[in-house]
Amino acid sequence: MTKILVTGGAGYIGSHACKLLKSKGYTPVVYDNLCTGWQDAVKFGPFEQGDLRDGARLAEVFGKYEPAAVMHFAALSQVGESMHNPGIYWDNNVGGSQSLMQAAVDAGCQNFVFSSTCATYGDQDNVVLDENCAQYPINAYGASKRAVEDMLAHYEAAFGLKHVIFRYFNVAGADPEGDVGEFHQPETHLVPLMLDAIAGKRDALTIFGTDYDTPDGTCIRDYVHVMDLVGAHVLGLKWLEEGKESRVFNLGTGTGFSVREVVNHSAAVTNKEVPINEGPRRPGDCTKLVSGSTRAETELGWTPEMSTLERMVSDAWRWHQTGHYDK
Ligand code: UFG
Repeated sequence: MTKILVTGGAGYIGSHACKLLKSKGYTPVVYDNLCTGWQDAVKFGPFEQGDLRDGARLAEVFGKYEPAAVMHFAALSQVGESMHNPGIYWDNNVGGSQSLMQAAVDAGCQNFVFSSTCATYGDQDNVVLDENCAQYPINAYGASKRAVEDMLAHYEAAFGLKHVIFRYFNVAGADPEGDVGEFHQPETHLVPLMLDAIAGKRDALTIFGTDYDTPDGTCIRDYVHVMDLVGAHVLGLKWLEEGKESRVFNLGTGTGFSVREVVNHSAAVTNKEVPINEGPRRPGDCTKLVSGSTRAETELGWTPEMSTLERMVSDAWRWHQTGHYDK
């Protein structure tokens, strides 16, 4: 079976990708340092513990498995943290990705699928966020991802490393079969924090900023179901297997929801009150991030069919109730 090296495969999105890869006949080999991931989320293939910045360890793993491609999910990904501790984003996300790309080309592995982010676009008023739009990240997290995108272009020019870059909008939901789901420690993401508040595991959800220039004053995001998101990665892998050109794709639905709208949908789906507080803005947050592209649909044949707020919240809620949050 074709092996795929999945960095960050013990994390939220990476573990869902591994499940899908296995169901499609691939062997996902997880490479993860467990700094934010969970070993019990590695269920679908071998596990190799290691750090991205450890070139010798990466060389050993590439030599052992000879993967046909890399799916690179491993990264620090908290916008707020990246604002007060930017150095670790440049070290881990940029330095780590450089070390990984070098190990891949040294091992003759020439196909690379990279998790980037809509945070690379920054806060642009009245601009359609498609793949050709200029990137002006306003936080160190987005800047670190943009730097890796640039690095991929250089590694292709110098060494022929082919790549597909996915710029994610906001990922939510969980595996409907409940094998894997979202669990961060500490948790910073809207949907799991809100479910915690609904379940009484925290007092309330704090809405970060109610004075944004949006219809209800709260930030607007484009939410994508994690299963749809990882489905795009398998399509991206096939794109590379077919020898197509390196390409960037946004992964969003094109529909934005405000924080208050997510809260209201979640109350309806769970049939419970969401206790909320209103707090100040969180540094680094953009007002509105909604994809303005259909490239993934038209070129990859991607259909984000599970990406309704109802489905994302209900799958996340089912996972939340399994007790994984009580680890
Ligand atoms: N929010 C709250 N209260 C919370 C948590 C979040 O109001 O307790 C708000 C945020 O201010 C934001 C929205 O909910 O407006 C979504 O916040 P998340 O933290 O869930 O997601 P982010 O938009 O900050 O970040 C996510 C990913 C990043 C990605 C980014 C692009 O974590 O990797 O989307 O927007 F880059």
